[in-house]
Order: sequence, then C-alpha cells, then structure tokens
Amino acid sequence: MTTQSPEPFTVPDHVPRELILPVQVAEGDDFLAAPYAYMARLHETCPPVFYRLSPQMGGTWTLIKHADAMFMLRHPERFSTRNATPFPRDPANPFKFLPLESDPPEHRKYRNIVDPVFSPQGVARLEGRIAQRANDLIDRFIGRGGCEFGAEFGRPLPVSIFLELMGLPQEMIDTFVKWAVDLLHSNDRAVMAQTMKHITDYLKEAIAQKQRTPDDGVVSRIAHAAPGGVPLTAQEIFGFVMFLFIAGLDTVFATLNNVWLWLARNPERRQEILSRPDDLNAIVEELLRVHAVTFSGRTVEQDVEIRGVKMKKGDRINAILPACNFDPEVFPDPTRVDFDRPRKPILAFAQGVHSCMGAHLARLEVKVSLREWLRRIPQFALAQGARIVYRPGGVVGPETLSLVW
Ligand code: HEM
Repeated sequence: MTTQSPEPFTVPDHVPRELILPVQVAEGDDFLAAPYAYMARLHETCPPVFYRLSPQMGGTWTLIKHADAMFMLRHPERFSTRNATPFPRDPANPFKFLPLESDPPEHRKYRNIVDPVFSPQGVARLEGRIAQRANDLIDRFIGRGGCEFGAEFGRPLPVSIFLELMGLPQEMIDTFVKWAVDLLHSNDRAVMAQTMKHITDYLKEAIAQKQRTPDDGVVSRIAHAAPGGVPLTAQEIFGFVMFLFIAGLDTVFATLNNVWLWLARNPERRQEILSRPDDLNAIVEELLRVHAVTFSGRTVEQDVEIRGVKMKKGDRINAILPACNFDPEVFPDPTRVDFDRPRKPILAFAQGVHSCMGAHLARLEVKVSLREWLRRIPQFALAQGARIVYRPGGVVGPETLSLVW
C-alpha cells in the first residue's frame, strides 16, 4: 500500500536539498538485509521529516514520527489517498481501489457497506472457523517434524478465511495463493499483468454470479449495495472487491511470517506467551507493533508545514508505519518486545478514516494461530541453513520460513 510514480522524477524547487536522504525503504540492500532494524535505526540516523528518491516511488516526503503520521492520517482533507496504490490500471477501463482511493465524505458510503462484517462482533463469529482451519493445516505437517511455514500455514490460512468471508468457494485456495504470489511478488511484469487479468476475469464472473444469486458473503453485499438508494457502478463494485484481495491476503501472510520468525528465534518468549493465556490480546498487539508490514502513502492536497518543513499541493508523502511504531518518544526502548507496555495506539493498521478495515479480523487470525500453534507445536526452530530473504515491495516479511521441531 505504498505509492508509485514510475516516470523520471525531478525534485521540486521547494524541497531543501539537505533533506534529500539516501534512505531506501522497501528496497535497497541495507533495508532488505534487516528491514526492522533498518527502520528502527531511522530515528537515530535521520531527521524526523525528510525526502527520499526511489526508483519505484519517485520523490516522497517521509514521516517516521508517530505524531506526524497521526497528523497525516487524521487529516484526509490535507492528504488525499487518490492514486494511493501502485497497481497499474487499464486507461480504457479506469477504476479506483476502494475504499482506499476515495476521500471523505464519499469514502464513508463505501465503509458503511462492509464495516459491520469486519467489526469486532462481526469477525468474532469466525473464531471457531479460524481455529479449525489452523488445526487442519497443522494436522497435515505436524507428524513430519517440520514445514515451510509460509506455503503450508501462513498463506493458506488467511486465504481460506478470506474466501469464506467473501462467499467464494474453498476450492479456490490454491489458485488464490498462486495469484497473490504472482501479483504481489513476481519480478516479471508480464506475469503480474497476466495474473491481474486472471483475477479480474474471475472476480467479475463471481460478482455477476452474486448479482444473480445473492448470499450473505462480502462480494454479494458489495454487489447489491445501494448507498442512499443509488446502486454502486460496475467499476465501483469491481474496484472494491479487487482491493480486498490486495489488502487482505499478503498483509496477514507477511505478519504471520514475521511473528513466526521471531518466535522461532526466541524460545523463552514462546514459553512466556504460553504461560499468559489471558494476556493474548496484549501480546498480539505488541507483536503487531514490532512487525508492522506496510506504509501509508498520500498526496498533499493543501500546502502544509510539518516540523517547519514546507510541503506543497501535489507532493507525495509516505508514513513509514513500522518506523512510527519504533518511535522512542511513544514506545521507550522501542525494539524491546514488552507485553506489559502501557497501551498506546499502534500504527500497524494506520489510523483515521482509512484505518484498516480488516484490522479486527487480522488480529483474530494472528491470535488464534498463535494459540493453536503453540498448543500443538510449542518447541520449534529455524531449519538448519534456512536463509531469511526479504524482497522489495510494499509489504515487509520474509519470503520463506523453514521450521523444524
Ligand atoms: C495484519 C494484516 C493487515 C495489515 C498490517 C493491514 C494494514 C493496513 C493499513 C496500514 C491500511 C491503511 C493504508 C493507508 O493508510 O494507505 C489498511 C487499509 C485497509 N485494509 Fe488492511 N491490513 C491487514 C489486513 C487486512 C485484511 C484481512 C483486510 C480485509 C479482508 C484488510 C482490508 C483493508 C481495507 C479495505 C483497507 C482500506 C480502508 C479504507 O481506505 O478505509 N486489511 N490496512
């Protein structure tokens, strides 16, 4: 969920040259060698607001302070989400990724359609199903003494729950997993374009089928929505369903991979988690704080000044949410994983009107996975010689994670 401007980029005159820093978030060897350490270090190596140039994103103001990200996220009238996602669209068939690429007040009409499904009460009914799916997956590999966590648990679990929620058939699990990988992790633009076409064809057909035969899934809900008595257009319906695919799969996968890598490396903390079953919500929140996986990109709508730095209408701006979660002013000793921290709002799911619609679902998926996995596989470690590799992209997490027990 980061921004992109692939055309050659000229730095505008109002950007002070001393604020242009060679920081490469989401790309670059130093970042990819240890992304979280890199983002935590930004607080020591950079001023709080700076400008960076990236081959992927062009020139972008960059925020790393919790308070500054809050300010940006809570002022959509000054910072717009138009063109917030990096995915190319066919100019002949333009559509917005909704609700993210809409601004208030229009934005609210989209959120109202599905917010009840994603509310804490709405997702609570899925708890038993998540636990069952987690156990079904564990059954397949527990006797083998090891697994490739991402392929065998981290990807299929959220995809399965997503399909359930959307009202799409479980037989699509493997296909959706493949599509998510090919769309979001391929270095080959032809593969990405081809995958986008497959997803588009499938989702359009699914939408048409739900229009003919409604059910209580999210696709049907969106397909039949008529806010203020006006049905959504075909492009709005498609842009909404498509964005859920993009927003809801890779993020949970990357989070699970990050958390399981940390668990594999910290056996004594696994014991601590097991010994504190009543504190699981706080434990999940702290694990999400130190493993935030994505960023918030905006376009400046009105000239604005942050910490004395002047930004102009049309500038791009990006909040490095994982870095904001390491802001020592808000979270002292920020890289320490401390389940007893005083509760402060974390930014893993952003804040403000565009705060993650799937946040309660994601929290529940992490919590149930943690509980079920540790109950059945309390001891595990990284497989000998396992390499932890991060790829460039808008969602941060190790590509694969080989575990043994
Ligand atoms: C751990 C998993 C997840 C993380 C870390 C995450 C993170 C985020 C973040 C940071 C944003 C704000 C983006 C911005 O400000 O530009 C966002 C928005 C959004 N997320 Fe998530 N997300 C996760 C899971 C999900 C799931 C499971 C779904 C749905 C199935 C979902 C649906 C959405 C939607 C629809 C938005 C746009 C909200 C709006 O514009 O009003 N996310 N997410």
